[in-house]
Amino acid sequence: FLHLLLRRRRREGEPPLIKGWIPFLGKALEFRKDSYQFLQRLQEKHGDVFTVLIAGKYMTFVMNPLLYPAVIKQGKQLDFHEFSDAAASTTFGYPAVRSGRFPGMSERIQKLFLLLQGPALNSLTHRMMGNLQRVVRQHFLSWGGGPECDWRRDGLYEFCERVMFEATFLTLYGHPSRANTETKKTSEEICWIDTLRENFKKFDAKFPLLIARVPIGLLGKTKSIREELIRFFHPCRMAEWSSPSEFVQMRTELFHQYDTLKDLDRAAHHFAMLWASVGNTIPACFWCVYHLLSDPQALVAVKKEIVDVVGEQETSICNDDVTLTREQLDRMIYLESAINESLRLSSASMNIRVVQEDFCLQLEPQCSVCVRKGDIVVLHPQSTHLDPDIYSNPQQYQFDRFVKDGKEKTEFYKGDQKIRYYRMPFGSGATMCPGRFFAINEMKQFVCIILLMCDLELAGDQQEATLDTSRAGLGILPPANHIAFRYRLKQHSTEQ
Ligand code: HEM
Repeated sequence: FLHLLLRRRRREGEPPLIKGWIPFLGKALEFRKDSYQFLQRLQEKHGDVFTVLIAGKYMTFVMNPLLYPAVIKQGKQLDFHEFSDAAASTTFGYPAVRSGRFPGMSERIQKLFLLLQGPALNSLTHRMMGNLQRVVRQHFLSWGGGPECDWRRDGLYEFCERVMFEATFLTLYGHPSRANTETKKTSEEICWIDTLRENFKKFDAKFPLLIARVPIGLLGKTKSIREELIRFFHPCRMAEWSSPSEFVQMRTELFHQYDTLKDLDRAAHHFAMLWASVGNTIPACFWCVYHLLSDPQALVAVKKEIVDVVGEQETSICNDDVTLTREQLDRMIYLESAINESLRLSSASMNIRVVQEDFCLQLEPQCSVCVRKGDIVVLHPQSTHLDPDIYSNPQQYQFDRFVKDGKEKTEFYKGDQKIRYYRMPFGSGATMCPGRFFAINEMKQFVCIILLMCDLELAGDQQEATLDTSRAGLGILPPANHIAFRYRLKQHSTEQ
């Protein structure tokens, strides 16, 4: 096998081939260090399409967004699920869905994703709104020191993580304990969510290695942590949880219909969904709030828009539940732009397709490249997001970049050509993230709640947040450094 890898030579019609000198690993180390810079260098040297050997895989990168449509519409010879099914099953510990043992299950899972969108999103949005307010209120109540209106210091990432993890969990899975959620948390309640989150963080830290197929047995305690996480979702336990979302209920019923799926396999599927639902949303919320707090003009504009939409309810938010409908969230154009701008700057996911047979991919009328069965074709949205031909001053945060004449701006050009795929944090084509509408709504709700309920300030005298590039390829990058901030319950509410 190694011999074959070393021997591969570029054939007529194939893109330039970059193998490096290390057998098997090829350019994996350079790629892992900073994939964006690495690919930029290769693009300058070899043009818009090239093949790189990375950890035993030949990956053909298509770097020009004008060529994306040709790849995205090519469903038959370029398959997405082969890669994601294999990677997800080893990472989360369930048998591959498309292994033949579960006829029709993959399609039925896909169909249930509709319960994250359309009319079903109204109920999720409503649930999330209540949960977010409850979690933030509890956060203040369970604070040991000083009155609620005193300033508290915390890490901004840790704050976003605590609030979004718990609120998203409750919204999707319901409540594992029957204790009253309105009052101060009991120690039992603190325990389950904090333990779940801590285990989740430990697992997530090893996620890049698991996705890269490093055997879990080599990763210290990760295996037992994953087992504990999976056991949390055991069907016997979940049967006791109160008011899960329709989405989770239907998935539970679906898994139940497959006898070939063991209880712990069912649990592992639920655990995988937890990861999908918070793994990217937490860092995305961090960047959104971080940028807003770093840019006074953006903060004023976004706050004004929120207050205009929320209206009179604003003053009561610390005591009563405020409702924000989907329609109201849809009206928040500047907030949506600010979120999309944060996603543009922090998203490093790759769109991966596995080549099903040797064929030549027609990219433009005059340009086709030949690829081989088993190779991987990759779109790299980060290069588009940071392309100065598309976005002027691409490294700069401009909260209103996606607004034009009071509406969402959707026309972006590379040179004089309009591009369709200018922003792709959620992937592309048929495999796009099914949770994207829910995710954007959740983020809007999070920003609304914290800006309406709290005063927030970044700590002065600290370095700017930078991206942790070691997770490149996997979604929204977390910050590499700790960012301190302070916050307190808004004054007007406590005076009333
Ligand atoms: C898949 C991004 C939030 C559920 C994906 C993919 C990306 C992505 C890039 C792969 C798509 C592709 O390669 O074409 C994000 C980002 C999020 C987010 C940036 C937040 C900012 C969510 C949420 C949920 C969710 C909140 C669920 C509640 C899923 C699922 C898949 C997926 C289930 C796999 C779909 C499949 O197997 O076909 N997401 N996602 N995501 N996402 Fe999200």
